[in-house]
Amino acid sequence: MTTSITDKEFALFQRFIFDAAGITLSESKKALVSSRLSKRLDERRLSSFADYFKVLSSGQDAQEVQVAIDLLTTNETYFFRESKHFELLREQAEQARGRSTPFKVWSAACSTGEETYSIAMVLAATLQYAPFEVLGSDISSRVLDRARTGHYPVSRATHIPRAYLQQFCLRGTQDQEGTILVDRPLRERVRFMLINLNTTLPRIGPFDVIFLRNVMIYFSADTKRQVAERALSVLKPGGYLLIGHAETLNELNVNAIAVAPSIYRKPG
Ligand SMILES: C[S@@+](CC[C@H](N)C(=O)[O-])C[C@H]1O[C@@H](n2cnc3c(N)ncnc32)[C@H](O)[C@@H]1O
Repeated sequence: MTTSITDKEFALFQRFIFDAAGITLSESKKALVSSRLSKRLDERRLSSFADYFKVLSSGQDAQEVQVAIDLLTTNETYFFRESKHFELLREQAEQARGRSTPFKVWSAACSTGEETYSIAMVLAATLQYAPFEVLGSDISSRVLDRARTGHYPVSRATHIPRAYLQQFCLRGTQDQEGTILVDRPLRERVRFMLINLNTTLPRIGPFDVIFLRNVMIYFSADTKRQVAERALSVLKPGGYLLIGHAETLNELNVNAIAVAPSIYRKPG
């Protein structure tokens, strides 16, 4: 049984998650961090948070670093969150209907995949057989494993429009009662990848639209600017960058035009 985290130990984990993910953990998260990490300490049979930090900083256990990142990130999400972004996506896809090149969208920091599948539903319904690509990515391998299954409790489906539920989701029966499964054809049009937004991006894009929502809220202004610049570097000229409603890029001096709150466009 582990004791609660000391101020000094908490400072070590603040530094750890800042260096690993760019996330700034405020003092108000101390109890949460303590409770999330103490379970892991018990599993690893370690007697203090400082000992756990030693494991993480040894450079010998990359897998444990991933576990700690998983434990220290917040993964709240839901289908069709912030509906006006999906309206804009539909309009953009409509305009691209006759195009021969794939319409490409990135759901960066996608958590358990609800955002990614919401995007894929809109594109499949709007573009039908025209080519499109949807990439979902996150720093947490645990949430990505869940995203790949496309399997959710039915309570998560509240915001999915009825027509999309009928067209793209299967309702579980018997031992799967109370769940929905995104159907295989749609799952196969989506891919998921581990990407840390706080490091150089792999070769992805260029995208028509990027969803970068509800993740920068945890970043310092400097990290936010670097992450936004990285995202803009893989966005097509004239493409849209969508962020969370509680977030802003104003005052970061990045190359994007504010079109409406939480909606930015890369100059064409
Ligand atoms: C609150 S969820 C947002 C999910 C979705 N975008 C939405 O708006 O509903 C934030 C996600 O950001 C991820 N995250 C945090 N830091 C990250 C980083 N440096 N790189 C990539 N993903 C990160 C977390 O793992 C988490 O899944």
